Amino acid sequence: MTRPEASVRAGAERPGIPAGAARELRRRYTAADLSVFTRDEARRFVPQGDGDPQNDVVLAWELLYRLEPELYDRLASAERLHPGVVGWLPRGLDRIAEVGAGTGRLTMQLIERGECVVAVEPALPLRRILRRKLAAADHGDRVRVVRGFFDRLPLPDDFAGLVVACSAFTPSPGHGGESGLAEMERVCRPGGYVAIIWPNHLDWLAARGYRHVSFPGPMFVEFDSHHEAVEVAEVFYPKAAGEVRRRGWRRIPFEVLDINPPRDLAFKVLAG
Ligand SMILES: C[S@@+](CC[C@H](N)C(=O)[O-])C[C@H]1O[C@@H](n2cnc3c(N)ncnc32)[C@H](O)[C@@H]1O
Repeated sequence: MTRPEASVRAGAERPGIPAGAARELRRRYTAADLSVFTRDEARRFVPQGDGDPQNDVVLAWELLYRLEPELYDRLASAERLHPGVVGWLPRGLDRIAEVGAGTGRLTMQLIERGECVVAVEPALPLRRILRRKLAAADHGDRVRVVRGFFDRLPLPDDFAGLVVACSAFTPSPGHGGESGLAEMERVCRPGGYVAIIWPNHLDWLAARGYRHVSFPGPMFVEFDSHHEAVEVAEVFYPKAAGEVRRRGWRRIPFEVLDINPPRDLAFKVLAG
């Protein structure tokens, strides 16, 4: 395994997970939609059994993954990671585990860094899209896509040299939390890396021994066409949608969005 080089600093606090969609996204769903959750999902996402996506954007995101997975994929495909982030990750690994893999924004790039990748993802509709993409790219045999949650990973101890999550882990128990981080570290072998890409709550991770790496430079959300940029912006970046339309943008600078660009990661090397 080669060791990544980068300038590293510990623990500055920055927001991470996309937040700009709040109002429009919440409007799309109602409490009746919660019936889409499996029992395991409901236990994590609506532990009291009475959530309301109209007032809870985190819940609305979970419904998006299950009710409109293709719409989510249009967004995730455009919000590309800073190339420095993927370039920083270790190479030449035998096994990599990714948690909350979604439709594969990171997964597709992990393939070149290891012999085999296990992509853990709870939402069935996202797993289907990821499998479809892997098959289309002829990578079906290198990546195993499995159902699972941060707090109960379906993998043995010391399984992988890199255990990673991208835009998925948060300190809240339903989306990782203490038990989720402990599970990621359990699955990581001694000397291996646990990495949280596009983290929120860097201070929370720093308090648990995670160091912060950030990659500079201008970043854009890149759509295939102006039409696509307008349609997706109307849902996820409603405040910027007018400007996107007016300026004829296909590439939206992150500065005009209320979102921290995907240029950061937090990591820990487990004691060997
Ligand atoms: C914003 S998406 C990111 C997906 C993908 N990693 C990417 O970068 O495009 C968040 C992902 O976390 C997954 N997720 C949510 N709660 C989870 C949990 N408790 N355990 C594992 N994954 C979870 C969601 O299903 C979703 O795929």
